[in-house]
Amino acid sequence: MTTTSHRFDALTAEHMRAGGSWKWSTPGESHGRGLIGAFVAEMDYPVADAVADALRATADGSRCGYLPDGWVADMAAATAEFWGERLGWAPDPGRVRPVPDVLTAFTATVRHFSRPGSAIVLPTPAYMPFLTVPGMIDRELVQVPMARDGGRFVLDLDAVDRAFAAGAGLLVLTNPHNPTGRVFDDAELAAVTEVVERHGARVFSDEIHAPLTFGGARHRPYVATSDAAAGHTVTATSASKAWNTPGLKCGQVILSDDADAARWEATGYLAEHGTATPGVLATTAAYRDGRGWLDDVLAYLEDNRALLAAADLPGVDVTVPDGTYLAWLDARGLGLDEPPSDFFVREAGVVMTDGAACGEAGRGGMRLNLAMARPVLAEAVERIAAALS
Ligand SMILES: Cc1ncc(COP(=O)(O)O)c(C=O)c1O
Repeated sequence: MTTTSHRFDALTAEHMRAGGSWKWSTPGESHGRGLIGAFVAEMDYPVADAVADALRATADGSRCGYLPDGWVADMAAATAEFWGERLGWAPDPGRVRPVPDVLTAFTATVRHFSRPGSAIVLPTPAYMPFLTVPGMIDRELVQVPMARDGGRFVLDLDAVDRAFAAGAGLLVLTNPHNPTGRVFDDAELAAVTEVVERHGARVFSDEIHAPLTFGGARHRPYVATSDAAAGHTVTATSASKAWNTPGLKCGQVILSDDADAARWEATGYLAEHGTATPGVLATTAAYRDGRGWLDDVLAYLEDNRALLAAADLPGVDVTVPDGTYLAWLDARGLGLDEPPSDFFVREAGVVMTDGAACGEAGRGGMRLNLAMARPVLAEAVERIAAALS
């Protein structure tokens, strides 16, 4: 682990609270101390110069009108360049379309690319809105608890197979996976393809965390694994996790099937319309000119992972992520008679996402966001450890 100081180390809890972000504005305190925000998936780090410069230029140049085709094309080209260079597979820029966010891409995919009325299959624990949004757009949700293979969370494809056999039409594949931090390997992705193809089903591949991988893990775009996968998948991604810009409202849909691309042309207007022009310009800058900033953040997060991995938290089973900056803390061993996140807010003053919000399979766990200044993370971990003793 690096011991030299880094500019992010100066981002104190007081500084973050004064900033007023959602992550740091949970009211309350614990034993006379302020709360440490470690729940919503955004980073405490200031945005890349490339992003800040693009936003300033957007304001200075009054580029806040409706989105012109040329800026969309530029963003699509920047997305394709980044994916090609960093992820080993480049989409056709003509098949990269703007959306405000991944959730909008999800609802559009459900509406226009899955069999009408068919249920949605969701491996759990999962990103929380995937549990609630299907019901809001009149679709049944089938939760498929992930299985454990040693310490790893793995997809239970027999259960996915049964859900498709019972009529479900779309699998939500999140990779890298929030909240377990898994980066699925080629064999697992090939097995997904087999099951989906057997039932003529579809995949919504959420790759919003794609650039955020650690150690030996490397993200492989699902569409790149085979022609069959490309034919049944709608991919969604965004620069918003890796460059910390979720409020800029710009994501990308990647269409990898000709018929899907034609369908998107006919139906995608509504989904595209909410995309923010400043977000598109900042995203283009992030993908093109923000790579050095990203590498710096990845190295910093790597050391934050090591800090958590070295922590002694008796009764808590810690999963350090291979991808995403979200760690999974399984607290079932503590035998608490309340949601563990309530216990740790009260006793440690650390605000984490309760696992039950990620589905039944997450009950008893918590999601801890590691993307904070290292001294703040060290304090959070110390507080959690102290609450355990
Ligand atoms: C896996 C995953 N998908 C989607 C989202 C939401 O993305 P967006 O804000 O683009 O809708 C998040 C945000 O944390 C996420 O972690």
